[in-house]
Amino acid sequence: MAAGAALTGVKVLGRQIFAAQRNWSCVSRRAASTIFKASDLQIELNKHPKEKPEVSALVFGKTFTDHMLTVEWSSEKGWSKPHIKPFQNLSLHPASSSLHYSIELFEGMKAYRGEDNRVRLFRPMLNMERMHRTALRTTLPAFDKAELLECLRKLIEIDQDWVPRSNTASLYIRPTFISTEPSLGVAKPNHALLYIIVGPVGPYFPTGGFNPISLLADPQYVRAWIGGVGNCKFGGNYGPTIYVQQEAAKEGCQQVLWLYGDDHQVTEAGTMNFFLYWINEHGEEELLTPPLNGLILPGVTRHSLLDLAREWGAFKVSERTVTMPDVVKGLQENRVKEIFGAGTACVVCPVNNILYNGSKYPIPTMENGPDIAKRFLKELTDIQYGRTPSDWGYLV
Ligand SMILES: Cc1ncc(COP(=O)(O)O)c(C=O)c1O
Repeated sequence: MAAGAALTGVKVLGRQIFAAQRNWSCVSRRAASTIFKASDLQIELNKHPKEKPEVSALVFGKTFTDHMLTVEWSSEKGWSKPHIKPFQNLSLHPASSSLHYSIELFEGMKAYRGEDNRVRLFRPMLNMERMHRTALRTTLPAFDKAELLECLRKLIEIDQDWVPRSNTASLYIRPTFISTEPSLGVAKPNHALLYIIVGPVGPYFPTGGFNPISLLADPQYVRAWIGGVGNCKFGGNYGPTIYVQQEAAKEGCQQVLWLYGDDHQVTEAGTMNFFLYWINEHGEEELLTPPLNGLILPGVTRHSLLDLAREWGAFKVSERTVTMPDVVKGLQENRVKEIFGAGTACVVCPVNNILYNGSKYPIPTMENGPDIAKRFLKELTDIQYGRTPSDWGYLV
C-alpha cells in the first residue's frame, strides 16, 4: 500500500512525491521496535551446567556462569526480543565498528548473597542510567532502562546458584553494548548488540583486612579532559590506561592517580573515585571528592558515600576541585587524615602513599583508623549483604 502511494506521488507534483515518501518512512519507522521488553524474553537453558569453582580460587573476570543475556538491534527492525541462552562465543564481522572505533561501552555491578540467603543488587538503576547516558553519547540506540534491569534480574535469578555463599565474595555483572556494524565507515551504527555476562568474584581484600595502596601521580599522563568522555564508561577510556598502570608498577605503585590541568587537579584513583578526608584550608573538617565536571566517572559508590556522609551530618561534605599542591600543603600541615578510592570492586580502598613529582608522600590513612573509610565500608556492605534493610538493596 505504501509503495503504491509512493508511485502515485511520482506521477504528480513534486510536493506529493515528498508527502508519499514521508508516509513510507513513517510506516517503516513505526515497524521498528524502539524498546525491548523483559516479558518477551526467550529462554534457552544450558543443558551442560559447569562446575562452580571454590571462592578462594576465583580470579577476577576469568570465571563466567552458565548463561548470558543478548539483545540485538538494527536501525531497520529496531530491538529484537531479548534472549537468555547458554554462555557462548560471539560471532562478529571483522569490520564491526566496535572493534575499530571503540563504539562500545560497559557497566560494572554486583549481586550479593545476604545472610538471609537472598540475592540483592545494589542501586542497579544508577548503573542502567549511566549505561543509557553512555549509549547515547556513543550513538548506540536508546533502550528502556527498567526493562533491561528486569532482563538482568531474570538472568541472575536463573544463575543464582553462582552467587557465592560468602559475605565477602559476590557475582560480578558486566552489561556490555557494542556496535556490530559491518562497515569501516566512521559513522553511527545501524547494527548493535547489547549483552550481559556474569561471573563470581572473590573478596577484594582476601586477607579480610584493609590493604592500603600507593599511587603514582604523574602529570604527563591524562585520563580524560574537559569536553571529552571521561564521565562515560567507554572501553576506549580504559585501554590507554594500561600502559600508565605499568609505569606506576615500575615505580612500585599499585595504581595511577590521574591528574588534570596545569594546576594538577586530582581526578580519579585508578578505576575508583577519589576521596580526601581532612581539615581544609579554613580549618573545617571536610570530606572532599572531585566534582562531576566531565573529567570523572560518576560512580555509584561515590554517589552512595556522599548520600551517607550527608545523612550522618558529622562534617562538611564537598564536591569540589582539589589539586596536588593543595594535598601536599595539607600533608605538610598535618591536616590530611584519610585518602581513599571508592568503587564497586572494593567499596573503599585506603591510600598510604602518593609518588608525585619524584617525591614520595606518605598518607596517614591507616594511622587514622581509617575511621571514615571503615565506617563507609561497614555501612555499605551491611546494605549489600542485607544486614541493614535499605531500599538501596534490590532483591533478585
Ligand atoms: C574510571 C572509574 N571511576 C570510578 C569508578 C567507580 O564507579 P562505581 O562506584 O560505579 O563502581 C569506576 C568503576 O566502574 C571507574 O571505572
